[in-house]
Amino acid sequence: MHGHTRGNRSAATCHYKCGDACAAPQANTSDNEYFKDIADAALSRRSMLGLGAVGAAAVVLGPSLLSAPAASAAQAAQGTRGSLPFTAIAPVSRSVDGMSVPEGYDWHPIIRWGDPLFSRKQALDPAKPSAKAQAAQFGYNCDYLDIIVDKYSSHRGVLVANHEYTNEEMMFPPAWFEANKDEARRVALAAHGMSVVEVQRKKNDRRWNYIVGGERNRRITMHTEFRMTGPAAGSPLLRTREDDTGTRVLGTLNNCAGGTTPWGTVLSGEENFDQYFRGRGTAQEARYGIKAKATGRGWEESEPRFGLHHPGYENEANRFGWVVEIDPQNPDSVPVKHTSLGRFKHEGANVRIAQNGKVIAYSGDDSRFEYLYKFVSRDTYRKGDRAHNMTLLSHGDLYVATFSGNSPAHEIDGTGTLPTDGAFDGTGTWVPLVLNGASQVPGMALDEVLVYTRLAADKVGATKLDRPEDVEPSPVTGKVYVALTNNSERGNHDTEGATEVSPRLRNRDGHVLEITENPTDATANEFNWNILLVAGDPKFNSSTYFSGYPADKVSPISCPDNLAFDSQGNLWISTDGAPSTIGYSDALHKVTLDGEQRGRVEQFLAVPTGAETCGPLIRDNDQSVFVSVQHPGEGGSYNEPQSLFPDYVSDGRKAKKGQMRGPRPTVVQVYRRTKAIKGQGRGPGK
Ligand code: FEO
Ligand code: CA
Ligand code: CA
Repeated sequence: MHGHTRGNRSAATCHYKCGDACAAPQANTSDNEYFKDIADAALSRRSMLGLGAVGAAAVVLGPSLLSAPAASAAQAAQGTRGSLPFTAIAPVSRSVDGMSVPEGYDWHPIIRWGDPLFSRKQALDPAKPSAKAQAAQFGYNCDYLDIIVDKYSSHRGVLVANHEYTNEEMMFPPAWFEANKDEARRVALAAHGMSVVEVQRKKNDRRWNYIVGGERNRRITMHTEFRMTGPAAGSPLLRTREDDTGTRVLGTLNNCAGGTTPWGTVLSGEENFDQYFRGRGTAQEARYGIKAKATGRGWEESEPRFGLHHPGYENEANRFGWVVEIDPQNPDSVPVKHTSLGRFKHEGANVRIAQNGKVIAYSGDDSRFEYLYKFVSRDTYRKGDRAHNMTLLSHGDLYVATFSGNSPAHEIDGTGTLPTDGAFDGTGTWVPLVLNGASQVPGMALDEVLVYTRLAADKVGATKLDRPEDVEPSPVTGKVYVALTNNSERGNHDTEGATEVSPRLRNRDGHVLEITENPTDATANEFNWNILLVAGDPKFNSSTYFSGYPADKVSPISCPDNLAFDSQGNLWISTDGAPSTIGYSDALHKVTLDGEQRGRVEQFLAVPTGAETCGPLIRDNDQSVFVSVQHPGEGGSYNEPQSLFPDYVSDGRKAKKGQMRGPRPTVVQVYRRTKAIKGQGRGPGK
């Protein structure tokens, strides 16, 4: 492992999660020479359309301005409004090894790494790792999370989670690992992917539990077959010696965030896939961060497809970096990878239905200086026609965003000081890469645009952003929120400096954008944008901004990553990296978007030491919040764990069957305590 932490993360996170991406040279070396033309054109189109910039003060779209589906979602949300009253917790020291939740709340682990999906006999035995057992157990490092409650039921449903990556040092006894390299790799292959598990709860008990042997339980691993869809399916760029059709792929990799579609399927983003492949040193590989040297996990030694230098496997990495869609109701369904959404390091994807019935999917490419994308379907949504709706992401137009600011360049000095108009704001354009089934990028064929989307976006002058992660449209207002985690390299080593949309040099703490699409046609090419908040700890950092809300009255927040909404339209933000920036554990915050409290950040929870908060799911009707606690105790090892979450088996207490003396990534429910619930109060730090 390298000793660097040039980004915001611990060295262990850099190594296992991103394959030391921040130690590598910047993958985006494009100079985007067309940027100015496009920005100028955008400005003139904006004045033609009369789309004035949205100011920092709240501009609340009334119901008449909402798109029809957004308005009905808003009404639906109002009809079932829940509430989640809490007093913000104080930020928590990064060394605390426990869930920290507000007064009056408790927490409950629903499912942990190694929990058996099909039979209790397959429970985790940490001393004897086995690929066969892992393929029947909940995978490692849970990230995206949703619970899809069954129709006509409030007590049963399916929980879907991603498994982004593995921490071999913490998972395996070192002596076993040294003696069983091949089997260890097979376990890791099986610990990646996704899980679907049925969950239920008792009447008058808020706590959900998973069902061992549930009918819909499913593990998707690196050996599950996927079908490619869309214009690049079958392209020579996707063919290998094991699949000369270019349409069948084994596995999904580094699944980070995701989104549940209006038709009840789950989308998942294949993110840092590059680190699993040994490359050949081509320009295309380099643009995706694939290095021509042995990988850290060494999978290429056990399965030739992970070595792109092996004859016949040159294209294997082209089969990863997609948005995948799975149907959690049918464990026999073949999951798909949608080429029409382009190939990059997808954080996730989130879908909305536009006024004209087309569906829009937003997706960020989570690396420094990468881009924001929008897909618009060719066909329209049909209520109740699930089979049809499951084809919507297979064909459509793909766009990448350019942003221009409305303040003079000299007022954006890189410190985060607001320009004289009082806002970081401006207009933007969705620039087409694919329109009506044809490439819009000079010199690139359609399949090249979709497989090498980063290179296509470079050519049209896309705007370089500070690690775009989750992108979520509000179900209440239709505004789109973009988490920009950070970019400590902005302005360093000849990289791009501050711009109005990325206004801080060496942006350690990140910021959140608010995009307002055309209020009558969300598929239109022009939009307005403004920065909702500039993150950091206001006590020590004068560059923070909370939409005008007093900085001394907010919870400190750093490295915004995953986004969610509650039924009232408040934005919830989980963080990834706060321990290395503001010194506190990663957290989940509620941010008020409307009214006088707009910009108010209130911390709801903190995760145990070394962990990142992922997959927030806010069910205020149930007075519950669900999070994936990813990589607790990262930086420790099997023999010297830095966290004991959530089993808390200490030296003096022996592990029972299915427990571990060491950390386990876990899906946790935080719920408002009621008198009726017995047995509350698990673990320290509650
Ligand atoms: Fe897997 Fe972008 O965090
Ligand atoms: Ca401005
Ligand atoms: Ca993430």
